[in-house]
Amino acid sequence: MISSLSPFKLERYFARYEFNTRYLLCSSDCESLAVQDLLALEPKADEGLLKHWLGYTESLGSPSLRQEISQIYTTIQPDQVLVHSGAEEAILLFMHAALQPGDHVIVHSPCYQSLSEVALNLGCQVTSWKGKEENGWMPEIDELKAAIRPSTRVIVINTPHNPTGLLMDRERFLEINQIAQHRGIILFSDEVYRESEFAASDRLPAACDINNQAVSLGVMSKTYGLAGLRIGWIATHHAALYARMTQLKDYTTICNSAPSEFLAELALRHREKLAQRNLDIIAANLAMLDRFFAGHAEFFSWVRPKAGSIAFPKLIGEDIERFCDQLVSTKGVLLLPGTIFDDQGNHFRIGFGRKNMPEAVFRLEEFLQSKSGGSLGIAAPLQVH
Ligand SMILES: Cc1ncc(COP(=O)(O)O)c(C=O)c1O
Repeated sequence: MISSLSPFKLERYFARYEFNTRYLLCSSDCESLAVQDLLALEPKADEGLLKHWLGYTESLGSPSLRQEISQIYTTIQPDQVLVHSGAEEAILLFMHAALQPGDHVIVHSPCYQSLSEVALNLGCQVTSWKGKEENGWMPEIDELKAAIRPSTRVIVINTPHNPTGLLMDRERFLEINQIAQHRGIILFSDEVYRESEFAASDRLPAACDINNQAVSLGVMSKTYGLAGLRIGWIATHHAALYARMTQLKDYTTICNSAPSEFLAELALRHREKLAQRNLDIIAANLAMLDRFFAGHAEFFSWVRPKAGSIAFPKLIGEDIERFCDQLVSTKGVLLLPGTIFDDQGNHFRIGFGRKNMPEAVFRLEEFLQSKSGGSLGIAAPLQVH
């Protein structure tokens, strides 16, 4: 029952800080835009928005938006795309469509909480398939094989990954798809950070394009920086699952916001440009973070990601929750302790998709300096270029 879902720790943490904290140094989405910036992408787009009809929209998502989304994939037709109000709605509906109490689910961990929580709440057995820092956060394929049971109905993966930033390599991604497909297990592939790979050649195929039992999850929020549109989708060749999800959607949102669908479609026609804008911000920010972590190597471990706008470094020598509390209260800089993801390794999520990241890191640096008489010894001050 949805009413018995446990509190979503990450969302509750953000609810405390997101709109009263100056520097969100742990956001997972990229720098956003104003409506006028999106409308400037095409002549007469403003007129189109002003004339856009505000009645109910088609429950599956408007045909032209689904057409635009299908272009992201190589084998997907518009009628294999189901548009939702954010990726979050799609996760909820997928789990309810695919699972029965007693089913077994394997979830790539640590994870965005709803990817495991909704299945648990449905009375499923959930096995965490854990990424290891020493392997660049990649979980072991042998452990996946060992975790599979006759009752395993769904494997959930997420790459590029929240919170670790892991971009799986192609070989292992293909292998996971084969393992699931050969055993008749549905693969739910959370690809909300796809198209944010630093090298386009590292981009993985979408699971739905290589596996007819897979469901790919996409969203406007992350790579394209348009979280406020609340437009997400699934793409799949699995017709029965698709049909079941459309039925369930009648009980959540019925259809999506009409202006959001208009703006999402416009944005997707220019998605490469929007992604590149954010990749440029990320590249500049990462160069700064590299210098920061190199200057403080005794206090942080740093696995540099190959995609996305987040990573999961480790703090050495002090409790991460205490560190984050002090940082936000004294410097107005928010980091996300890994305990929010049930991580016990003293990691924290850092986000580098926002334009004001350099100022936030500068304040973090000041914070470290102010603690230099305390438990953390501090290296030379950060040079901000
Ligand atoms: C891995 C992952 N999946 C799904 C979502 C949900 O996306 P949205 O908030 O746009 O619905 C998030 C958001 O942080 C996420 O990180």
